[in-house]
Amino acid sequence: MNRPITHPLTGWRPDRWRDFPAEQLPTYGDADALAAVERRLAAAAPVVPIAEIGALEQRLAAVAAGRAFLLQGGDCAENFDDAIAQRVARLARLFDAMAAPIEARTGRAVVRVARLAGQFAKPRSASSEQRGRIELPAYRGDIINGQGFSGPERAPDPERMIQAHIQSVGTAATLAAARHGCAPIYTSHEALLLPYEEALARRDADGRWWATSGHFLWLGDRTRQLEGAHVAFLEGVANPIGVKCGPGLAPDALAALVDRLDPAERPGRLTLIVRLGADRVEAQLPALFAAARGRAVSWIVDPMHGNTEKVEGRKLRRYDRILHEVRSFFRLARAGGVVPGGIHLEMSPDAVTECLGGGGPAAVADLDRAYRTACDPRLNGDQALRLITDLEQTL
Ligand code: PEP
Ligand code: CO
Repeated sequence: MNRPITHPLTGWRPDRWRDFPAEQLPTYGDADALAAVERRLAAAAPVVPIAEIGALEQRLAAVAAGRAFLLQGGDCAENFDDAIAQRVARLARLFDAMAAPIEARTGRAVVRVARLAGQFAKPRSASSEQRGRIELPAYRGDIINGQGFSGPERAPDPERMIQAHIQSVGTAATLAAARHGCAPIYTSHEALLLPYEEALARRDADGRWWATSGHFLWLGDRTRQLEGAHVAFLEGVANPIGVKCGPGLAPDALAALVDRLDPAERPGRLTLIVRLGADRVEAQLPALFAAARGRAVSWIVDPMHGNTEKVEGRKLRRYDRILHEVRSFFRLARAGGVVPGGIHLEMSPDAVTECLGGGGPAAVADLDRAYRTACDPRLNGDQALRLITDLEQTL
């Protein structure tokens, strides 16, 4: 893409990531079709207004300082057949129901950030999927390819970016309309599909670049390489951003990422999202806290992604492990003089049966009843509310 204007401070441009190795990106068969889609998106409306992105940074600065609590959650992946108005209304009600006891317990205002209006691209551990003798590319989220197990469905199609953008604009508008009289719900997603993110980068009057695909963007645990393309993109946009911190993240690598992504030490800029797993959090978290000591980052816990199991061919998560990791995170944070800033959950307001325990399915066989996720298992609405109740002594 042709973007002649450079960043006034660093020479950063939205296409700079192209000079670096990129993990997890699809290979599109038709380069001309891809370029045509990028041009259309570069001329398209932002999904969210820049002014709102700045407002979220202020709220997140309060989280970092211990004056507000970040509740981030939603589906693992959105789908093109989601019923938007209904989903937004139900998710907003779940956020409200969870926020009330958190606010009562902590005295801190809850900042609501949904995995929504752009959470379409999924990193995958395996690049292909085998069924019987047939091997096809893995499903990577509706913005990239289709879930159906056929060659045409699994071929990456750039037109899907246009559909994702249209759905995201509609979802963000629905969220914005729902905020009258209620707390705002901000949007967030993993900044995985860089051609899409680049095309939606916009410059403000002061010359700063913003990702307008969502308010808050995060780096996934598989795409946070210091010398990689995803870091090279996110370092240049002014949005508040997150980094998933998994078991493979060494403390010195974290320190280098914090320097790189928040060199100006802007409160609210950087949220570190711990997803070590219930079995590893105790051993690994204190050193990660130490690596970012003295920096104005927010720390929150994602107790979902370090606690995924595969049983009888199906991904599941256990409520008890999830609760355990959250409790450990809060205890270790306080012991280490760190503000525990909030929680990041994969959750659905619907009565899905994807996680075991916590009042939901008791046995693996019970998961069949309503196992509907496009990717990872989510807490259902009752399990998510119960988690907040069970954290009463923790928060
Ligand atoms: C996710 O949040 O959906 C995800 C893939 O997380 P992680 O990068 O932490 O594995
Ligand atoms: Co997930």
